[in-house]
Amino acid sequence: CGIVGYIGYREAYPIIIKGLQRLEYRGYDSAGVALYDGVDIKLSKTKGKVADLQARAENEITTNGSLGIGHTRWATHGVPNDINSHPHVSNSGDLVIIHNGIIENYDPLKKELTKRGYTFQSDTDTEVLINLIEDVKKNEGVKLGKAVRLALTQVVGAYAIAVFDKNRPHEIVAARMGSPLAIGVGEGEFFVASDASPFIEYTNNAVYLEDEEIAVISLQKELKIRKISDDSLVQPYIQELQLNLEQIEKGGYEHFMLKEIHEQPNAVIDTYRGRMLVNEGIIRMAGVDDHIEKFLNANRIIIVACGTSWHAGLVAEYIFEDLARIPVEVEYASEFRYRNPIITDKDIVIAISQSGETADTRAAIQLAKEKGAFVFGVCNVVGSTISRESDAGAYTHAGPEIGVASTKAFTTQITVLTLMALKLGKANGNVSASDYHMHLQELALIPEKIKASLTSDAHIQAISDIYKDSANFLYLGRGFNFPVALEGALKLKEISYIHAEGYPAAEMKHGPIALIDEQMPVVVIATKRGHYEKVVSNIQEIKSRSGKIIAIVNEGDVHVKELADHVIEVPDTLELLSPLLTTIPLQLLSYHIAVMRDCNVDQPRNLAKSVTVE
Ligand code: G6P
Repeated sequence: CGIVGYIGYREAYPIIIKGLQRLEYRGYDSAGVALYDGVDIKLSKTKGKVADLQARAENEITTNGSLGIGHTRWATHGVPNDINSHPHVSNSGDLVIIHNGIIENYDPLKKELTKRGYTFQSDTDTEVLINLIEDVKKNEGVKLGKAVRLALTQVVGAYAIAVFDKNRPHEIVAARMGSPLAIGVGEGEFFVASDASPFIEYTNNAVYLEDEEIAVISLQKELKIRKISDDSLVQPYIQELQLNLEQIEKGGYEHFMLKEIHEQPNAVIDTYRGRMLVNEGIIRMAGVDDHIEKFLNANRIIIVACGTSWHAGLVAEYIFEDLARIPVEVEYASEFRYRNPIITDKDIVIAISQSGETADTRAAIQLAKEKGAFVFGVCNVVGSTISRESDAGAYTHAGPEIGVASTKAFTTQITVLTLMALKLGKANGNVSASDYHMHLQELALIPEKIKASLTSDAHIQAISDIYKDSANFLYLGRGFNFPVALEGALKLKEISYIHAEGYPAAEMKHGPIALIDEQMPVVVIATKRGHYEKVVSNIQEIKSRSGKIIAIVNEGDVHVKELADHVIEVPDTLELLSPLLTTIPLQLLSYHIAVMRDCNVDQPRNLAKSVTVE
């Protein structure tokens, strides 16, 4: 979910609506807003997107108050309908809340409150929380800030919340445990939001709350932050933001996803910046350099991640083992955290996360830390929770990724991890000086080669038109390109809702081959280096069962061209760098198919970009 709040001198409503639009990547099942009009709380909420809320609020919200909160929801408790939408108001009608996260013990709390006469309109855990706050406030005779803090000590779960009390219209109370929350600090005004994008045009100053912190944001007093557990004061650390407005807007592209696909040449250059000095033969990564002994003495590396980041982890496994000869395991964070894994202080856990906020990945690194492992974070969002909770790390520097389907985050994650593997391989003697230089030189050419891969766009669009109505797709790849096949299938699934499976090409004969007939498009990564002949045999197997073959090949390929129904060319590069190029046409293929099927590319149904609940 995404939350946003405003208190100050401007009209709150337009700020909140625009903020919610920017946070829609966090969920868009329903949306709502609550404003204070000087006397009362005005509420408008609806199932659907922020645009639906706007249409509805036009009639319901007539005030131009300058205190308000808004919410865009990714449903956990209770189906997405109008009643379950946030904000939620307390029984007295005085208090109103927005909440991102889950209150795990809401059931006993609800029962207790019901006994005390509270009634509930929705099925949400959030409505329980606001009434718990109200109950504490009444019973203890305390002000809002204290009531929220005391109520939260009774709560088990994850949350970022913002609450206001219509009797204290100069104040918003916000708190965080597990879900991100940023406070924008302006002149005579404050913003509260899940990330800084809603307030970036108003202020560059932000305070990021830590877990277990509560902030009383008051126009009458200074910003006060306390620990929820013991009420101790915390000095607010005001950070200057690097983000600019242009980065979070579409810049002439029809969709964020398309913009982000096309940004990849520059995103990779940004990932290299300051790190890769080709002529000097240096890879500089402070997070690795400062802990080089740890890396050189590590028994193994365990990579934990979810979704597309997990696929980047799989590519990294192949690269690390190839270049640095360090054993690597890749785990879904959600599995790792619950399966009593064997971890020692000789292990390095690399957490890969675009957002740096994914709940399962966070929990996995907590566990790894408890067991004494060294945790290295590869995140895109600067200042994100995982980047702060890791012992060291490296940012991908891809810039904000807004489209829910991850594109440039994937290629830059692979880029960072390749730099690391190459650096470590040289440091531990597994990569010779000449090989090291050869890799560096080839890495330097990657941005131009991504650019060249993007020129197939129109050709891919034409292929998309032929297969847009297919019910299934199969993606095949081998070696370094096996995870690319998985990622290609995930991209298509996510945004076009076509069922797609990724498979290691050779494994096809043990199952998926049964699915192949003239209706089945099979995307095969068949670049020249690495098992080319073997992949050609796989292509022949598909062809003899009348499958339709879309092959990703190197420029100038002749052999596969004769067999495949369609070929899409990418430039040649080292085998281990090929995922950076072969991924590009697969992103474009899924993009065009989704557009042709009239799907919402940037906000596919049921998904959210940043999943801060488990
Ligand atoms: C969600 C997103 C995916 C993303 C995954 C992991 O499922 O929709 O695009 O790959 O979370 O997110 P992270 O921010 O940890 O990389």
